[in-house]
Amino acid sequence: MPTILDGKKVASDIKNEISARVEERKSKGFRAPNLAIIIVGDDGASHTYVNGKIAACKSVGFDFTLMHFASTISEEKLLKHVENLNSDEDIDGFIVQLPLPEHISVEKITESIKPEKDVDGFTNQNFGSIVSKNQLILPATPFGVMELLRRYDVETEGKHCVIVGASRLVGAPLGMMMTESAHATVTLCHKYTNDLASHTKSADILVVAVGKPGLISEDMVKEGAVIVDVGTTRVEDKTKKSGFRLSGDVDYDTVAPKTSFITPVPGGVGPMTIASLLLNTLKAYEDQNPEG
Ligand code: GUN
Repeated sequence: MPTILDGKKVASDIKNEISARVEERKSKGFRAPNLAIIIVGDDGASHTYVNGKIAACKSVGFDFTLMHFASTISEEKLLKHVENLNSDEDIDGFIVQLPLPEHISVEKITESIKPEKDVDGFTNQNFGSIVSKNQLILPATPFGVMELLRRYDVETEGKHCVIVGASRLVGAPLGMMMTESAHATVTLCHKYTNDLASHTKSADILVVAVGKPGLISEDMVKEGAVIVDVGTTRVEDKTKKSGFRLSGDVDYDTVAPKTSFITPVPGGVGPMTIASLLLNTLKAYEDQNPEG
């Protein structure tokens, strides 16, 4: 049977490490790190994710500032709020929860965030620093995936890592990290890839970040592969109080027995994204408030 890559447990270990660091700083008279979160509109899933981020801040002793705007807010007004956060010395880092309404340019908003406070690691400067000797703030989800593999001593050097999904938030930066930091040989698949199974079947490490439940079936996976499932799609489930459950992109029940390591959904990559956000906020705080 495979080893479960237990993101919930690793994230909890990371949170304990962060709490200890925050306590140490507070004992020296420093204020707590402060993360601001901007959320626009009333998308239920986005609010659930943001509530998770707030709970995580509380659990490690961070302060947080929640800013909720109606979906009708103009791009100009939102940019003004970002500018204010950029210059607010009491805010160490902030995120703008995605997706945004269609009339607002994600790229414009993201690029207006001061890179030192961009704790999602979305700005071009932070993204580009993945391939620099001087890495800045790393994109949170891929950083979480790398940290999860590292803490389970998963061998990556020289391995064939196949990533399905080449998004700006996950697949593309993860491909760069896998090459630069983990020395894997990377194949990056996307919606134009021909014969997806021919690629996934040759993966020593298969990362899937598409958002299509059941995309990866047992016949698409090599015996002994390491599987990281980044997918989190809400699917209807009348047996749940909420009326839905979260589903990954991998058909877990049939695929898991073939693998050496696999992430569950939920409880795999999701908690690691939040842990990375906290680590990035701690870094932003420490870099901007040095002990002297
Ligand atoms: N929407 C889905 N995932 C994320 C994330 O990691 N950060 C932000 N800001 N928005 C998201």
